[in-house]
Amino acid sequence: MGYQEAYDKLKQYGQLHVLKYYEELSGYEKEALLKQIMDTDLAVLQQCEHKEALNPRGEITPIKVMQLAQIEARREEFVQIGLDAVRAGKVGAVMLAGGMGTRLGSDAPKGIYDIGLTKEVFIFQRLVENLMDVVQQAGAWVPLYVMTSDKNHEATTSFFREKNFFGYDADYVTFFKQDMAPASDYHGKVYMEEKYKMATSPNGNAGWFVSMMKAGIVDQVKEAGVEWLNVFAVDNVLQRIADPCFVGATIAMNCAAGAKVVKKNAPDERVGAMCLEDGRPSIVEYYDMTQELMEAKDAQGEPAYNFGVILNYLFREKDLEEIAARKLPLHIVEKKIPYLDEDGRLVSPENPNGYKFEQLVLDMIHELDSCLPYEIVRNREFAPIKNRTGIDSVESARVLCQENGIEL
Ligand code: UTP
Repeated sequence: MGYQEAYDKLKQYGQLHVLKYYEELSGYEKEALLKQIMDTDLAVLQQCEHKEALNPRGEITPIKVMQLAQIEARREEFVQIGLDAVRAGKVGAVMLAGGMGTRLGSDAPKGIYDIGLTKEVFIFQRLVENLMDVVQQAGAWVPLYVMTSDKNHEATTSFFREKNFFGYDADYVTFFKQDMAPASDYHGKVYMEEKYKMATSPNGNAGWFVSMMKAGIVDQVKEAGVEWLNVFAVDNVLQRIADPCFVGATIAMNCAAGAKVVKKNAPDERVGAMCLEDGRPSIVEYYDMTQELMEAKDAQGEPAYNFGVILNYLFREKDLEEIAARKLPLHIVEKKIPYLDEDGRLVSPENPNGYKFEQLVLDMIHELDSCLPYEIVRNREFAPIKNRTGIDSVESARVLCQENGIEL
């Protein structure tokens, strides 16, 4: 993209301030800035003007959850179906590790965090070890795709190499980067983080499939015969990945997707609740849970929206290709964004000062015709690390790991 084109694009979106320092940049910096302008979706910035009207919700009704007793009754059958799929190379795993992990307060990728007490136990290591259990049970490798972002790609890939992939076969590990979205002030004006660089942040965890397509990995997935992709968050150190029982149950129930869910520990717990929305599977985020939804009861007198998602989903690859072209809802989130002030000095704000723009993997579920909510035993499979201390923290995850016999 030449200067004129960049100028026109910025003008169209009311962002000409991006060129404020252009004349004083070096040749390399000029090029980098023009490329970033070309690559960045600036249209999202216009959305913050009518932010409240962005994602209208349909009619929410309860969804049927496959609960623990039902799973136990058919465990053997499900495990067999799942193991057959893993052995046939039909199951891949996608680790979403592109987030910034700001709540944990470390600049390094979240997976590099050491939760060990007497020895090193890295978050990445815990996840790979969990996946290894299935590899050993099935006697077959599960291809692992790791999504990073511009901000943490180098650090993540070199850490895996340095640690020898924690014993995983490196031929089965592929890294890819997600796209970035601009970060702006409250009026939708993009911040600058350098004189030649707009402030950006990863575009949310729904970006994974489109980014995999762009990187040519979806072609590899298809060539390898992978039909199911188990997408999971980087921060739940107890989760089962490519879990044969879960895979088998989703296949046996003939569902387009599966979602691992936990029984909520309070109606207002901060997890998204599985539901139907206008008759299709969906997730209502905790901040959208009204009093009415929290108090609603099902036919058995149980809370109607009692199961929360843990960001561990199984998607059928061919459905993902169909929904990739569709527009997912945009979530505009208030965050602290480092920026250049009027005098060109970098400021790291102590309080939120603008918006980041994200699309979320949970919205992909609503695009599908069916999804199996599959209950897991909370204390065995759910130990998310969002913070250093308190709820969903390094501390709480350590206690849960120890309860499950994991040496730290
Ligand atoms: P979170 O919502 O916990 O966000 O991500 P985060 O960025 O890790 O942490 P905070 O909010 O800044 O403290 C849930 C999962 O989605 C991934 C994260 O890496 C984590 O596995 N994610 C999130 C991405 O891969 N890309 C994104 O753009 C955002």
